[in-house]
Amino acid sequence: MNLNIEERAMLDGKRGKANRKAMEILVALGTIYGAERMVPVTSVQIAGVSYENLGEAGLEFLTEMAENGGKVRLLTTLNPAGMDIENWQSLGISAEFAENQKRVLDAFAKMEVVTTCTCTPYLSGNLPHFGEHIAWAESSAVCFANAVIGARTNREGGPSALAAALTGCTPEYGMHLDQERQPQVRVHIKARLETENGAPGTHLFGALGRFIGEKLSASGLKPVPLIQGIERATLEELKSFCASLATYGGTALFHMPGITPEASTVTYPSEFLEVTQSDLQAAIQSLNDDDPEEVDFVSLGCPHLSLSEIARIAKRLEGKRVVKEFWITTSRPNKQIADRIGYTQMIETSGAKFAVDTCCVVAPIKGRFHKLATDSAKACYYAYAKNKFKTVFKSFDQILDEALGRGGI
Ligand code: F3S
Repeated sequence: MNLNIEERAMLDGKRGKANRKAMEILVALGTIYGAERMVPVTSVQIAGVSYENLGEAGLEFLTEMAENGGKVRLLTTLNPAGMDIENWQSLGISAEFAENQKRVLDAFAKMEVVTTCTCTPYLSGNLPHFGEHIAWAESSAVCFANAVIGARTNREGGPSALAAALTGCTPEYGMHLDQERQPQVRVHIKARLETENGAPGTHLFGALGRFIGEKLSASGLKPVPLIQGIERATLEELKSFCASLATYGGTALFHMPGITPEASTVTYPSEFLEVTQSDLQAAIQSLNDDDPEEVDFVSLGCPHLSLSEIARIAKRLEGKRVVKEFWITTSRPNKQIADRIGYTQMIETSGAKFAVDTCCVVAPIKGRFHKLATDSAKACYYAYAKNKFKTVFKSFDQILDEALGRGGI
């Protein structure tokens, strides 16, 4: 790879041990993927934050980077941790886990990472601009950044995202290159994506992401899709779609004419796929386990909730009592705004719990519940893959009904 003077100095150890290690990681990655040079980045988001996923080996790596003088050079935030940093006890997290999770966050803080733990950094102050090169790691956020914002990022691993933060650059390959951002398949949506009451259809977009993702993944090529036939989509629907498409298809970018910024500049491919109403219904069906077991866990916020979603929950729960364990997952900055507006009180008085900085997938809750009700196709995937939970998949409003004991399951 061609390195500039500063990048070479880092690789030669002239900027300290942590920067040397970081540059070694990036050069190795760039060499594997045939990058010719590094490109400067303006924003980083690091995944692999939950102690449950990191373990002692991951924590050791972070501690070593921090002790060797690693300091981030640009705005860097984190993916969800394994617990609510302030309120872990009420979520049933053990003191031992909490201690280890805090050691992870301390190591990041020592490197001057902003320890806001969220998979929707773009809703909490880490919002890149169109065309900027960034290094993000959370798959749903990577897809949102590339497709909806028009920033440019590969899906980074935890170490390569940290390396980008410490050095300020990333190898120029994949999503950083114009030619890699061209669509290879055209997908025409014939299914209806509106909910009956006109509320955002997060679950419908999630089911759509599952169907398209699985189809693309089956082709073995992970092509960039150009998706036609959708006239409008809310921010919440797009974040749900991105999470699902990335989970089921490993997709990091799509284009949607009239909705995403690069759709009008790309060349339309001839290869064609159609999504019918019955395809969408089948995808919804496949996310619902049909055993008679009772739902014992309800969660909204995968990906982390926006403020308007929190407002919707608060208004529905005001003056009522939930009858199930109900986690509402979002970022700390959004929760703090909810505190000030009064949404938190409306929600918590109902018996529902905020699970801030974390989510129902990365928290260590295996064995605690049997059946999860959610509007998130991504959460369904990991609820089973990671925790062996059965799933009920419904609209946002129906999930609230479920928490209030009106699910009819
Ligand atoms: Fe975010 Fe957890 Fe879902 S990290 S995208 S809420 S699985």
